[in-house]
Amino acid sequence: IDAKRMVVFDDVQQASHHVADEIIQLVGTKPSAVLGLATGSTPIAVYEELIRRYRAGEVDFSKITTFNLDEYVGLSPEHPQSFAAFMRTHLFDAIDVPEHHTHVPAGVANDFLSTAELFEKKIQTSGGIDWQLLGIGDNGHIGFNEPGSPGDSGTRLVELADETIEANSRFFDSPDDVPRQAITMGIATILKAKRLVLMAFGAAKAQAVADAVAGPVTPDCPASFLQRHPNATFIVDRAAAAALP
Ligand code: F6R
Repeated sequence: IDAKRMVVFDDVQQASHHVADEIIQLVGTKPSAVLGLATGSTPIAVYEELIRRYRAGEVDFSKITTFNLDEYVGLSPEHPQSFAAFMRTHLFDAIDVPEHHTHVPAGVANDFLSTAELFEKKIQTSGGIDWQLLGIGDNGHIGFNEPGSPGDSGTRLVELADETIEANSRFFDSPDDVPRQAITMGIATILKAKRLVLMAFGAAKAQAVADAVAGPVTPDCPASFLQRHPNATFIVDRAAAAALP
């Protein structure tokens, strides 16, 4: 496997520092960079490092624009389990990015079709995403593009896979409280970003990482579409790299 496409770190902290460095370097050279962001457990240490470096005066986020990958349908930005709330708690409230520069897809809308179209349009008018952070589901999903998602998909309303509801129930009181639908950037939306960085840690991600990097490009493993991107890197720990051929 191409060393530019996959970097294996000894631990999450080192990997997260590496990714934070890349973001800080980008924002240093292009203060108005457009960043694509993810929620979940995986990027938390990256956001912590960005906050630390911001407080140390090493980076200015006042001109960046951000777009998040996804949001649960039915959760307003005020809902504590919404991804909008996650982003405020783990990053936005601690740095100087203006609120109106941050975009998380709306989980509550009258018309998800036009909401999704508007989200795509906003990405375009911002100049497109320079740098996109991704996690990966145990089932190979990116954003909430579950297995079966076509490569030409745009931002849209999707049904969550049973295993995703199960995996994400750790953030809710019970699995019944996990929303069944989400709004997510599509595979095509993600592939338009100029650079993609997918992070994966732990043994539970090992098979999905191996399928994504070394398997066929197929909707069965949505992350495998990253093979079609000229500037995508997988940042993993040893456990997540363990199933590679
Ligand atoms: C989150 C997202 C998801 C997660 C994935 C992994 O915005 O789009 O694809 O990246 O479910 O989640 P964690 O990091 O919690 O293992």
